[in-house]
Amino acid sequence: MLSEEKNRQLTRVGPGEPMGDYLRRYWIPFAGATELDANPVKPVRLLGEDLTLYRDKSGKYGLVDRQCLHRRADLSYGFVESTGLRCNYHGWLFDADGSCIERPFDDVAYPQTKGGKLPCIKAYPVRELAGLLFAYMGPAPAPELPVYEPFNWTNGFVQIVTADIPCNWFQCQENSCDPVHFEWMHDNWSARLAGKDESAYAARHLKASFEEFEHGFTYRRIREGANEADPLWTIGRVTLWPIGFYLGQHFEWRVPVDDENTLSLAWFFVRVPVEQEPYSQASIPTWKSPIHGPDGRWISTHVINQDIIAWVGQGRISDRTKEYLSASDRGVIMVRKRFFDDMEAVAAGHDPKGTIRDPEAAKCVKLPIADVNANQRLTKEQLMANPYFRARVRDDFRWHAGQPPEVRRAFLEAMGASEQIEIEFG
Ligand code: FES
Ligand SMILES: [Fe+2]
Repeated sequence: MLSEEKNRQLTRVGPGEPMGDYLRRYWIPFAGATELDANPVKPVRLLGEDLTLYRDKSGKYGLVDRQCLHRRADLSYGFVESTGLRCNYHGWLFDADGSCIERPFDDVAYPQTKGGKLPCIKAYPVRELAGLLFAYMGPAPAPELPVYEPFNWTNGFVQIVTADIPCNWFQCQENSCDPVHFEWMHDNWSARLAGKDESAYAARHLKASFEEFEHGFTYRRIREGANEADPLWTIGRVTLWPIGFYLGQHFEWRVPVDDENTLSLAWFFVRVPVEQEPYSQASIPTWKSPIHGPDGRWISTHVINQDIIAWVGQGRISDRTKEYLSASDRGVIMVRKRFFDDMEAVAAGHDPKGTIRDPEAAKCVKLPIADVNANQRLTKEQLMANPYFRARVRDDFRWHAGQPPEVRRAFLEAMGASEQIEIEFG
């Protein structure tokens, strides 16, 4: 249980709020680069700020204010040129630093004013990495953008999936340090949804342990039938600081849109069989997963959709004055405490947890990987002997509902699964 004040501190993300200022010390992933392929300008709301994302004709990204310096037209209806974004109202042109570099009428009719210093609009740096776009919205100098090891992996098929979640980010992120929910929400509930009878309970959690490391926390667990040599006990899964979750072949981030909305952003990697090497992906697809079914209820058929049901079910902003924590919540308590302590440290002028200032160190940030097959070079036969890989090829994408058929097909082509393509696409 937390006081109302403490709950406020954890959940409010706008500028000037302790958590808002804290999260602004990190590079925040907020989109897939291919989201700009069809239209190079996109409205974005991030950490409570309305912004405009664009990729200009030279390929440079900008993340600037939603509204124009001049008379406040909506820049997400602007159009890109070789250098920057032009407002559609009177044609003022802005570069990625937020400088106004052209005022067409003034520049022609009053050339003597050309080059005069104008105020800048808000602008944040954007970096592209592994098909994702990251923004830094904090004070200069920005820390290094951590290149997590899987972002350097090659010969894999990557896809990025987003979902719009109508609740606060922190209740989503608490789920990243909550091993026991796997047994119930994903195993037992899925079995019930599939009509399995009540005696079919999944392996119970016997013990759980939580440890902090530089880039987050690991949680480790033993379930019935496993022993202490199991990688889920010796290595564990990663609560990735500050807004992520890492499971070996995929990352999930709970990106704060504002106090009451979160963008679920996930990055999935599957290594191709040896027979398909060398494999180079021409473009990393980004797609949006639906969260409502036709009956207006939340979709419950896929893993992250199930998680979303837990998160939104806690209310728009979970009221932690009314919760009743228990033994399985030790990780949640540790994560909250680290945030509180670190918010204080930042307010006192320190860098927050996991900040990397050394460019060399940022080039390959290793994380604990419990999934021993995450980047193994295996033949098709070896891969098909693995139940998880086989299910990936034979069944639907299990993490999110609504995978577009063209993404499914590209995945099967990458895996060399020609028989499956024949079955599904004729
Ligand atoms: S409002 Fe943007 S150029 Fe006038
Ligand atoms: Fe989950």
